[in-house]
Amino acid sequence: MKKHRLTIFIFSLMLLQSANIFAQQAGKTEAIYSGLPWYDQNGKVVSAHGANIVQQNGKFYLFGEAHSDTSNAFAGFNCYSSKDLYNWKFESVALPVQKNGKLGPNRVGERVKVMKNPFSGEFIMLMHVDTLGYKDQFVGYATAKNIAGPYQFKGPLLFKGKPIKKWDMGTFQDDDGTGYLLTHGGMIHQLSKDYKSIIAEINPAITTGFESPTLFRKNNTYYFIGSHLTSWEKNDNYYYTSKSLSGPWTARGLLAPKDKLTWNSQATFILKISGTKDTTFMFMGDRWSFPKQLSTANSKSIIRKTILPGDQTISLTGNWKSSTIDSISIIRSDETKASLSFNFSGKQIGLYAVLLPDNGYAKVEIRDKKGKIIINNIIDLYSKSPMLQLAFLSPMLPKSDYKVTVSVLGERPNWSDKRKSLYGSTGNNITIAKLIIQE
Ligand code: DGJ
Repeated sequence: MKKHRLTIFIFSLMLLQSANIFAQQAGKTEAIYSGLPWYDQNGKVVSAHGANIVQQNGKFYLFGEAHSDTSNAFAGFNCYSSKDLYNWKFESVALPVQKNGKLGPNRVGERVKVMKNPFSGEFIMLMHVDTLGYKDQFVGYATAKNIAGPYQFKGPLLFKGKPIKKWDMGTFQDDDGTGYLLTHGGMIHQLSKDYKSIIAEINPAITTGFESPTLFRKNNTYYFIGSHLTSWEKNDNYYYTSKSLSGPWTARGLLAPKDKLTWNSQATFILKISGTKDTTFMFMGDRWSFPKQLSTANSKSIIRKTILPGDQTISLTGNWKSSTIDSISIIRSDETKASLSFNFSGKQIGLYAVLLPDNGYAKVEIRDKKGKIIINNIIDLYSKSPMLQLAFLSPMLPKSDYKVTVSVLGERPNWSDKRKSLYGSTGNNITIAKLIIQE
C-alpha cells in the first residue's frame, strides 16, 4: 500500500444545527479539510455520510446520507457537486424519504452508492435498507436518467428472485464496466448488465465482520478494505489484496497505523482520480457520532495566530482544570454550560482539542459585533484513542470583530447495538488545546 498515494477524506457526521449565514463561495476553500464540517454554497453544512463520488462531465458528484442530530431514521440521500473536491454545491435530495414503504418514515437507509451504467447510460443507486433496529436488512436500488436525480426507488435488488439480506454494502465498477455489489464479510456479487439485479456470487465471505466493504483496483491488483464490527465506533480498518475478484485474498493487515482507528474513521469509498502524471486513490471515511451525528476533526495544521489556554484574553465561566497531556497544555471541564469565550478580529477561527475516551460534545457559537449568533455547531470531542485534532474550523467570514464561545454541552456520544453491547464515551468532558485565528 505504501507505494500508492492514498488521500484521506473523512466525512464527518455533521449536525444540521449550523445556522451560519456565510456560505463558502465556490473557489473559496483551498484544501480538503478532513473531519470538519464543510459548508455548501448556501452556508449549510454538507450532510453526506456513507458516501461515494461519481465523476461526470468534468465534475465530482458526491452522494451521501442526510443526517440530523435528532433521529437516526432515513432522512434522504443528498447529492452535491464540485469541480475541485473542496468547494461543494448542493444539487438535490437525490432520493427523498418515501411517503411509505421500506424507505418511508422511520426506516433506515444507509451507504448510498451511485454508479453510471456504461451500457445504458442510466444512473443506478444502491443502498442498505433496514428497520430502525437493524432487523430487516436488504440491498435496495433506485434509478435515474440524470445524475442528480430524481431517483425512483425500485425495492430490493434480486438474486435468483430473492433479496440480498445483508446490511453494510459497497459497489465496485471494474475497468470493463462490469458492476459489483460488495457486502460485509467480503462477499462479492456480479450485477447484471443493466445493474438492476444480480447474476452471480463470485466471491464467498472471506471473514466475519468486515463492515463498510470498499474495493479498488490499481493495475492488476484488487484492494479490498473493511472495518471490524463495532457498531458506530471507529476501529482499525484492514485490507486484503488479490489478482482476481474471486480470490484467493491475502490479508495485508491494517490500513492506518495501529490504534489510530483508521484516522478516527470508518471506510466508505475509494475514489480513483486519474491525473495527468499519476493516479491517486482517495480514501473516504465516516466519523460517526451517535446520537448526535456530527463532526470532529483531523490533524491538518494551519499556520495562523495561536491562542493557548492560559492566554489572559480568554474568559472562562464555570469550573475548568489546566494540565498537560503529552506536553500539550490543555484546559478541561465537564460542567454543563462551563464556557470559554474569546473576542477576535479576523476572517476565520479554528479550535484544536485533545479527543479523549471520556470526552463529550462541545457547543461552538460565533457572534458578530451586534451579538447575533452567526455560527452554531455542536462538535464531538470523543475518541477511543487519545488524539490532538483540529476539531472546528469556521467558514471564511467577512473580516470583522467576532466572539467565539465554546461550552460544555453536558452530553456524550454513547449507544448500544442490537446485541445490547455498550459503546462510546464515559464522560462529558471537553478538552481544549488552542484556538487559531486567520486575521
Ligand atoms: C456500522 C455500519 O458500518 C454503519 O453503516 C451503521 O450501519 C452502523 N454500523 C450502525 O450501528
